[in-house]
Amino acid sequence: PESGCLSIIVLGASGDLAKKKTFPALYHLYRQGFLHPDEVHIFGYARTRISDDELRDRIRGDILAKKLKLYQSSCNQIKYVSGSYDTEDGFQLLDKEISQHEVSKNSAEGSSRRLFYLALPPSVYPTVCRMIRKCCMNKADHGGWTRIVIEKPFGKDLESAENLSAHIGELFEEAQLFRIDHYLGKELVQNLLVLRFANRFFLPLWNRDNISNVQIVFRENFGTEGRGGYFDEYGIIRDIIQNHLLQILCLVAMEKPVSLKPEYIRDEKVKVLQSVLPIRDEDVVLGQYDGYRDDPTVPDQSNTPTFATVVLRIHNERWEGVPFILKAGKALNSSKAEIRVQFKDVPGDIFKCQKQGRNEFVIRLQPSEAMYMKLTVKQPGLEMSTVQSELDLSYMQRYQGVPIPEAYERLILDTIRGDQQHFVRRDELKAAWEIFTPLLHRIDNGEMKPKEYQPGSRGPVEADELLAKAGYVQTHGYIWIPPTL
Ligand code: BG6
Repeated sequence: PESGCLSIIVLGASGDLAKKKTFPALYHLYRQGFLHPDEVHIFGYARTRISDDELRDRIRGDILAKKLKLYQSSCNQIKYVSGSYDTEDGFQLLDKEISQHEVSKNSAEGSSRRLFYLALPPSVYPTVCRMIRKCCMNKADHGGWTRIVIEKPFGKDLESAENLSAHIGELFEEAQLFRIDHYLGKELVQNLLVLRFANRFFLPLWNRDNISNVQIVFRENFGTEGRGGYFDEYGIIRDIIQNHLLQILCLVAMEKPVSLKPEYIRDEKVKVLQSVLPIRDEDVVLGQYDGYRDDPTVPDQSNTPTFATVVLRIHNERWEGVPFILKAGKALNSSKAEIRVQFKDVPGDIFKCQKQGRNEFVIRLQPSEAMYMKLTVKQPGLEMSTVQSELDLSYMQRYQGVPIPEAYERLILDTIRGDQQHFVRRDELKAAWEIFTPLLHRIDNGEMKPKEYQPGSRGPVEADELLAKAGYVQTHGYIWIPPTL
């Protein structure tokens, strides 16, 4: 592994994302010994004028609020610089601070590694990247590197995303850019590649001959609370489906990569995205929960969906005819994220009259990480009857005491190590926008309208009808109960 001086610069340090995700993740990495205090220094940069101590107090406050035990030493490594995002003096000052730290930490062989984390609204990405490029690059005579971490939304549609990519691409090489999609850092998402390609069980079954349909579902049981202004500009498709759920689709549907080299994996993801057919209107149901527009930051006439079910079809040899149902919603009756791979009926079924339901392989990303296979077994007892049961791998039970890392921790560590496997490549992003842009434009123009649904419900009934039409068969009377210890 590399050694030498490492500076992590969080831009937008006083904002929500930094407070909720970035700093706690950095703190956790410290605690676990991944960020060595002799090498690492953390800088916060934002417009607000506050002192180093105030920033530390804020971070501490939030970490304490998360009930993590606080170790004094980790916060002492944080230095705060204030300045604007579009003028050079702030960035020159930042560069001076980083350089000073590099000089003090570096012995003769030292290196200058600079990781810029943009916890900022995307509108300032181009300017901030220009400033970094101009004022804050790593000092070549020390070696090392400069890397940029950016967060979605990467644009609003194909054109704006391509513009953004072009701007940033003029300043930095693709190898320096880390586009975060935090779903790629989730334990069970990271497991998909292993599951699919390291198990003989799945290899021959994973195709149109055996699989009837695939669902990728995200549900939240709360609304846009406090984020109405941001959300209304984007809507559920841009917020969840075009990125988080589509990334999962790639990993479920892609072909086997040549090897585990990050570029080979990303090549396969791009290919499967390019095979997705244009979305048909009849394959979409949109919803907006009753009360969404009561938020003062949401316009009264808002047409923005807070719920959507979209059926995608992949035009290739493996998947032709298999619907991939992506569903996401806010203010629903539960909070969870899961993948459901439903198999076809058994041909020539001799148990047809008693059969309980189809085989289904469920990967539960959250909460209660698990994977389970729904299968039909003989009902234990003297009678010869069948019942739906499951083979269950629940992490809480099987991996007792093994902490599951937060998505952001893992991804930040990857950026330090320079591993881009779990980040979105430029051509991948483009292909993702190509799929959704026509639909998004129709919604933005008011040509497609969301159906109203009650908060705390399953979403619009039309979505369940679409699900049934796509071939999903619900098993009535069966519920999986996450095992407890
Ligand atoms: C974010 C979305 O990317 O993901 C939010 O902007 C959403 O709207 C969040 O709530 C969900 O992330 P997680 O990790 O809590 O499932």
